[in-house]
Amino acid sequence: MSRWLWALFAPVMLFGDGGALFEKHCTSCHVRHVDFTTLAKNFMESNNTLLNLKAPALNQIRFRVMQRVGDPEGDAEFHRIEVTGFISDYVLNPDRDKSVCMPEVMRFFETMESLKGKIGEEELQSIAEWIYEGAEQ
Ligand code: HEC
Repeated sequence: MSRWLWALFAPVMLFGDGGALFEKHCTSCHVRHVDFTTLAKNFMESNNTLLNLKAPALNQIRFRVMQRVGDPEGDAEFHRIEVTGFISDYVLNPDRDKSVCMPEVMRFFETMESLKGKIGEEELQSIAEWIYEGAEQ
């Protein structure tokens, strides 16, 4: 492949399948997007009976992770590494003590089960990059 074509397609080849991989590995529990008004109603007023979510919605998780992992005001590339690192680590080693989600939301869920052995490192990296990019919105 010429260098130009490579420059054009490399990002897609590396991260472009993040959405499909998220569908495959994560949507059995995480829906991609619910608007914040409905989420607030669901978790604050209706004890999760409005949406009956099995896990926090992805846009909700992304919002928290982007604000609460690393330094959102610092270097953008470094923040990307911190955020994608947090997501990848959480999927393999979920732990409530590491959670950045709101306690008011977390009270409805058991700690996520680890996907160790069920997902490849590269797949996970693609998903984490895709989440960072906010492509689900
Ligand atoms: C079997 C259901 C299930 C699957 C599959 C699943 N999750 Fe989760 N996940 C949960 C639940 C429940 C929570 C909320 C409790 C928690 O944070 O541990 C959660 C929380 C999270 C969090 C938030 C951590 C925090 O700060 O609390 C991230 C990030 C996450 N999941 C990413 C993923 C990704 C990426 C995938 C797919 C590769 C995935 N999950 C697949 C159930 C699941």
